[in-house]
Amino acid sequence: MYWVKEFYLKQQEWANVYGGGITEYHRKNAELVKNTAQGKLGDILELGAGGGQNAAALAELGYSVTAVELIPQLAGIACKFTSNSAPGKIEVLQDDFYEINLEKKFDIICYWDGFGIGSDDDQIRLLNRIADWLKEDGFALIEIYNPGYWKKTVGKTMKFGKVNRRYDYDYQNNRMLDRWWLRNFPENSVCQSLRCYKPEDLKTLLAETGLNLKGIYNDNIWIEDNLVDNKSMQYMIKLVKNK
Ligand SMILES: C[S@@+](CC[C@H](N)C(=O)[O-])C[C@H]1O[C@@H](n2cnc3c(N)ncnc32)[C@H](O)[C@@H]1O
Repeated sequence: MYWVKEFYLKQQEWANVYGGGITEYHRKNAELVKNTAQGKLGDILELGAGGGQNAAALAELGYSVTAVELIPQLAGIACKFTSNSAPGKIEVLQDDFYEINLEKKFDIICYWDGFGIGSDDDQIRLLNRIADWLKEDGFALIEIYNPGYWKKTVGKTMKFGKVNRRYDYDYQNNRMLDRWWLRNFPENSVCQSLRCYKPEDLKTLLAETGLNLKGIYNDNIWIEDNLVDNKSMQYMIKLVKNK
C-alpha cells in the first residue's frame, strides 16, 4: 500500500480531483444510501472520504456522517463542508482506517471508489473492522472495481490539463493500474493499483469475515450477482453482519 499517500496527494495537486462542490453524482450516491435504508436516517461512517462531497450530500439528506480520510490535505478540504447548513452533521477524522479506534457503532458504513488498495488479507482485515463498527441491524455499501471493465481498458490513455493518464491491468494479481504523470515528466509518474473482484471472488473473501453479501447494485439498480457485466468501472455491494 506504499503508493497510496503519494498517488491521492498528487491527484489533488495536479488536477484538483477532490476540490469541487457537491454534484448530482454525489447526491445520487446519497439517494442510494437512503433508498437502501428504506428512508431511515442514522449515523454513517464513510471510509476514504476524499474531499467530503459524498458526506456533504448525505448530510443534506439528514444523516450524521463521520468521514475518515488519510490524506491531511483532502481531510482539510472535507472540513469545509462541516460548516454547511445541512440538517445532518459531519465530523471529519484525518486518520488511517486500518489504525483508527472508533468507540461508536454505525447504522451504515459507506466506501465509494477505492476498495482494494491492499492484498486480499488487507481487504479481509478492513472488512472485519467494518463488521465491528456496524450495529447489529446495520449495513455497509462498498464500491468494488469490476475486472471485466478494467481488462477492456488496457492501454487507454487520456490527457487533461497538465496531466497524462494511462490504464493497464495486472492479470496475474487482478489489479487495475491507473498511472498519472505531468506531461514531459513520465519518469515521475504515480500509479494507483486496486484489486478487482468478481462477485464470486468477493464471496470467497467474505467467507473469512463477519459479513455477508446481501445484494449488488449496478448503476444504482439492484441486480443479481451473475448479471454484473463489463460496462461499469465499479459495482456496489450491500453487506450485513453474520447473525
Ligand atoms: C479514489 S479516492 C475516493 C474518494 C471519495 N471516496 C470519492 O469517491 O470521491 C480514495 C480515497 O481513499 C483514501 N484512503 C486510502 N487509504 C486510506 C486509509 N487507509 N485510510 C483512510 N483513507 C484512505 C484516499 O486518501 C482517497 O482520498
